[in-house]
Amino acid sequence: VESPLDRLLDAEELRRRLAADVRAGLARTPKAVRSRWVWDAHASELFDRIVELPSYDLPRRERAILEARSATIATDVRPETVLELGAGSTPRTSVLLDELVPAGLRRFVAMDVSEYALRGALPRLARRYPGLEVRGVVGDFERQLELVRTPGRTLVLLLGSTIGALEPAERAALLAAIAGVLESDDALLLGLDLVKPEAEIRAAYAHPGELAGGLIANLLPVVNRELGADFDPSWFQPESSWNPDEERLETVVRSLCDQVVTIPDVGRFELAAGETIRTQVSTKFRREGVERELAAAGLRLDEWWTDADGGFALALAFTRSHVRGHPKA
Ligand SMILES: C[S@@+](CC[C@H](N)C(=O)[O-])C[C@H]1O[C@@H](n2cnc3c(N)ncnc32)[C@H](O)[C@@H]1O
Repeated sequence: VESPLDRLLDAEELRRRLAADVRAGLARTPKAVRSRWVWDAHASELFDRIVELPSYDLPRRERAILEARSATIATDVRPETVLELGAGSTPRTSVLLDELVPAGLRRFVAMDVSEYALRGALPRLARRYPGLEVRGVVGDFERQLELVRTPGRTLVLLLGSTIGALEPAERAALLAAIAGVLESDDALLLGLDLVKPEAEIRAAYAHPGELAGGLIANLLPVVNRELGADFDPSWFQPESSWNPDEERLETVVRSLCDQVVTIPDVGRFELAAGETIRTQVSTKFRREGVERELAAAGLRLDEWWTDADGGFALALAFTRSHVRGHPKA
């Protein structure tokens, strides 16, 4: 089964945006590049393997909540369209779609920067749900959300604690952009990994072998390939650390020596031994903070469902103009 795929960026525009973000990120102190650029086909492949690890417990926790609550979501929202942001290979989406399709879902739109992930996932969903219109959008949900058309009552999905990869200001901007495309009966379903003891969080991210550093360091080969930079990944050490103030895990590549990196059209950068470039963050959430951030974006938290030991949550939010109970019969 073929599923249509829209590309919102051509290769040249993509490189221009990467160059701008790398220039801005390397000018920061400490250096930090937008997490979006880690994600290419190789990263999607690594992530699909990470999701299968028993130690990476986020997917299992999220699945348990989806299994318990999807029927309620189907009656509370009854969407015609699901728009999944950062869908990746949609590993848990069918738990929800199994309930939404019989309740009248007509269209599933998956947006991701990784075309590779969508190409693998969408034909599977199209086969599983004949009659459901399945479409992919290769694009950046932080910058291009308003370009995606979602006719009919829409449920926006952002699962896997993907929103945790954004910084607070970026999260605020994304939630505001989502609120901007939601009509009064539309809803947003967020999957959120919650604050828990540091040792437990670290254990979830202590991946074996190349999975440990592969995703963290993937920024370097992406910048080499797309911009012709001369990063030597063997001169960098991938690391992660818990930031207790921001309640997030931060991953960096640490320069193992004094070195100079040349990135054509961006510049020449001196990196001292020990200096870091941050490549990802995984923010952990608390209910009060989420409620506040949603409210700031004009959204109202309607349901907060956690797994058995409160380590992960699904948050269902509506716009402020939504009348609670609608569209229930
Ligand atoms: C942590 S994975 C989650 C994948 C899947 N939703 C899950 O729950 O297992 C994050 C996904 O978001 C995508 N992504 C990251 N930043 C993005 C952005 N700014 N726009 C679109 N997709 C993005 C990545 O390519 C990746 O597939």
